[in-house]
Amino acid sequence: MGGIAILKTFYVELPGRRYAIMTGQGLLTKAGSLLSKAGFDSAPIVISNAKVWRLHGPVLERSLKGAFGPVPVILIGDGERFKSHTTLMKLYHRMFRTHADRRSWILAFGGGVVGDIAGFAAATFMRGIPFAMAPTTLLAQVDSSIGGKVAINVKEGKNLIGAFYQPSAVLADIGVLRTLPKRELAAGLYEAVKSAAICSESLLGYMERRLPQILDCRPPEMERVVVETAKIKARVVTADEKETGVRIILNFGHTVGHALESATGYRRFKHGEAVGWGMLAAVEYGRELGLLRADESARLIRLVRSVGRLPSLKGIALDTLWNSLLLDKKFRSGDIRMILLQRLGEAEIRGDIKSESLRKFLKSFLAGNGSPV
Ligand SMILES: NC(=O)c1ccc[n+]([C@@H]2O[C@H](COP(=O)([O-])OP(=O)(O)OC[C@H]3O[C@@H](n4cnc5c(N)ncnc54)[C@H](O)[C@@H]3O)[C@@H](O)[C@H]2O)c1
Repeated sequence: MGGIAILKTFYVELPGRRYAIMTGQGLLTKAGSLLSKAGFDSAPIVISNAKVWRLHGPVLERSLKGAFGPVPVILIGDGERFKSHTTLMKLYHRMFRTHADRRSWILAFGGGVVGDIAGFAAATFMRGIPFAMAPTTLLAQVDSSIGGKVAINVKEGKNLIGAFYQPSAVLADIGVLRTLPKRELAAGLYEAVKSAAICSESLLGYMERRLPQILDCRPPEMERVVVETAKIKARVVTADEKETGVRIILNFGHTVGHALESATGYRRFKHGEAVGWGMLAAVEYGRELGLLRADESARLIRLVRSVGRLPSLKGIALDTLWNSLLLDKKFRSGDIRMILLQRLGEAEIRGDIKSESLRKFLKSFLAGNGSPV
């Protein structure tokens, strides 16, 4: 894995406390000492899955052992369907079996699935124990590990049972991204494009210029994308921890994205891919409303399309999509709200979306497989 280079430590600042996000190449080799510096003084209970543990567990374990002694490890199943009540119950029981108590802490080591459920276990085990995140997918490093949204899925929908529960530290080793399947890398990159689209035209420009190197996971380019995107998330969460205001802009691309995931039973799209389609829809719809300039929308569409091949929209019925959209937990009040772009790097929350016009737009968006006809 080569030498360790901590590129950047930055903070999520919350009323009365803050936590560090540490990013760099090879950080796992120093996880023990970095986490002790962050205030932990005993071995964590590591929660991971077999795939991540096989690839990167030995490096992490060696370092944690050096700092804290033997480390209990609990592995959960791999995949969204394991972000469930059943897995959660198994986790609690396994934790009791390792003699966990109120002084224990959890280290979530994996992608967003591991982070979300391990974080929810931390939030609820004995009314809450500390936890830290060592995210291993691009999506988790730039998005899900930051901001304290933890959750499990239930049959009524995704992430419907959860909490805001902030980690005490986030340790993102960019080197581990080299083992990510290409499709997972692209899925994370759509979320990075989203953050750039709403907050940073300069990051967007950088991604346009360096996309081949980023997709190839070259260290300097990937580092810049992870650091800058994670910083955007940290800044937005610092401004609005509980998503009562500005944090909502992070949902750019998610209105249609969530609806697409749900309309296809969470099987066709990775979350990031659905967000990719959702951004295309938001840009095209924004253009119809006269918001984003044509050259700017063309740039964003080109970038999203160049990240990878989005699974087709074929066969998705308008009614199914529309019903999913109306059932989204963010619209339970009955209003349709969308995040649209004023210009690249600048988003606005629109609460005045007319349902007939959006429905009509989606009809043509689906008919044209993502290019309105
Ligand atoms: N909490 C939040 O704010 C938030 C935000 C966005 C998404 N999410 C959630 O995140 C989840 C999706 O996360 P994800 O995209 O990371 O998916 P994931 O956790 O399922 O990981 C994707 C795949 O990559 C594998 N993997 C992980 N790290 C690897 C590595 N370094 N090398 C090789 N393979 C590796 C995993 O085992 C899995 O098979 C969803 O449940 C979504 O709801 C949460």
